[in-house]
Formats: sequence, structure tokens, C-alpha cells
Amino acid sequence: MSNQISIGNLIKQGENIFINYKKQDAIIDARLLMMHLFDEDYTWILMNRDKIVPEHIKQSYIYLVAKRTQGIPLQYITNSQEFMGLNFYVDERVLIPRQDTETLVEQIIEISKTKSLKNAVEIGIGSGCISIALAHYINNLKIVGIDICKKALEVANKNINIYNYQDRISIINSDVFNEFTLEDELLDLVISNPPYITKDETPFLMKELHCEPKIALTDDNDGLTFYEIISKDAHNYLREGGIIAFEIAFNQAKNVSKLLYENNYNDIQVIKDLSGKDRVVIATK
Ligand SMILES: C[S@@+](CC[C@H](N)C(=O)[O-])C[C@H]1O[C@@H](n2cnc3c(N)ncnc32)[C@H](O)[C@@H]1O
Repeated sequence: MSNQISIGNLIKQGENIFINYKKQDAIIDARLLMMHLFDEDYTWILMNRDKIVPEHIKQSYIYLVAKRTQGIPLQYITNSQEFMGLNFYVDERVLIPRQDTETLVEQIIEISKTKSLKNAVEIGIGSGCISIALAHYINNLKIVGIDICKKALEVANKNINIYNYQDRISIINSDVFNEFTLEDELLDLVISNPPYITKDETPFLMKELHCEPKIALTDDNDGLTFYEIISKDAHNYLREGGIIAFEIAFNQAKNVSKLLYENNYNDIQVIKDLSGKDRVVIATK
């Protein structure tokens, strides 16, 4: 890359490198990395495209472009991902929040309009995106977020602090419910987006998925392990009429519904995501 270069031209060079590496979204990634380094939006980039890039930002840009060409997800480079209109800090310690998961959160927000939801547990809180979005959109809901991974809990904690929900979301390092004790009232909601990719599917995951923690993605089994454990254990903590809600893979609706039925839940519903795939299963105790 030449010595003095404008913002617009440096973005163009970044885009060309991505094109050479056959990266999808070359232009978007090239722009987003520049926006990240200047901590500005795209309008600012457009207005300043002829401005000369300071040397240290140019070096950082070249470094980040190289990282991206190695398959590091953009979100881990920029340390941010939008979810339910909120911005979350993310890094290699957690799964990157997915748009598909918004279906699960939206369903619970919808239910909260007709049913009082005061206390919940989330199994596998990861970055905290589900619990924080629920706290943000449902007044007075208190949540205990559980994760087996201490490093993931550090990220959840960071996001909880960013959004100032320390009084409404607490975190516990636990294998599912093992370290959890009920305070006084039974739960209104148990929610989880558990690791559901099967052992057999794991080798076929996209290259970028291999950057995300394996423990967040797969149960190293048939994909149903957590649905089975959580459905069974949640019965001890949910009140009559309480809700159990899961994100599922597109092909798990039948098996997860069956597990819920066998564990005596009622009103089992399967909800599709925006692309028309089965994505959420919700039931009532
Ligand atoms: C698919 S990720 C979901 C993360 C976040 N809730 C989201 O939706 O983006 C699953 C999470 O479950 C956690 N996890 C895996 N095994 C667990 C276990 N036995 N008990 C509790 N959490 C577990 C992982 O560390 C990971 O954070």
C-alpha cells in the first residue's frame, strides 16, 4: 500500500485484497473495518473519503484486513454485534449473537404482553444477548444467567455492566442447573439457546464457525442432549403455567417437541424464523 493514502483509496485496497481472497461482502467488510478504526459511521466515511489516513490507522487497517483474510469473523475484530437493536461486546470467548436468535426473544416479548414474567433463568448465557435484550424490553423481569464457561461469563458480565443491568441480571458458573438454587419464588421462564449442532455435523461447519467456542456450538452427541436435560430439570423450578423456551436447529422441532411432551409440558408450539425454518419451541408447564 502507498505511503500517503486517502480513506476512500485505502478502503478500495482493502476491498481488492478481500476480492483476491474470494471473501464474500468484500466492500462491506472493507468499509466496516475503517468505520471501526475511526469509530465513526458510514456517513462520516463518505464525507471524509478524501482525507489522508494517519499512519497508525493505516497500519492498523492493514493488520485488520490481514486478520479478516485469515477467516477471523468481523465481529471478533470489531468486538461488536448488533442484536435486537442493541450493541453487544463480543470476542473469541463467546458465540456471536445470531439474527435467527431474535425469533426466540421476540416470542418471549410477545408472551410478556399477556402473561406476567418476573423471574427467569437462561441456560448458556454466552455474550448475554438474550438475557440483556429480555431485560431491556420486558419491565421488571429478573434473570439468572448460567454458563459452564467462565470466560463466556466474563463477556456476559461486561455487557451487563455496559447496559447497567447488574440489579436485574445475575450470573452463575454452572453445568446447567447444578449450582442453581431457587431464591423464593418459582420461575416464570426457563430459556435457552443451547449447543445443538450434532457431533457428525461439526466437521462440516463453515471455516468461520471454527473460530467460535466449540462448547457453544455442539453437544458432541446427537444435538438433543441439552433439550433433554433442561426439559427434565426445569420442571423442578418452573411454576405451573411457567414457560420453557428453546432455540432449535431447523430439523429438531419434532424431537424437541417430543421431549417436552414426555416431560409433561403442555401447549407445545413450534415457531418459524424469518426464512421460514423451524427455529423456536415453546411450551407451558
Ligand atoms: C449456542 S451458545 C448461546 C449463547 C447466547 N445465549 C446466544 O444465544 O448467543 C450456548 C452457550 O451454552 C454454554 N454451555 C455449554 N454447555 C453448557 C452447560 N453444560 N451448562 C451451561 N452452559 C453451557 C456455552 O458456553 C455457550 O455460551
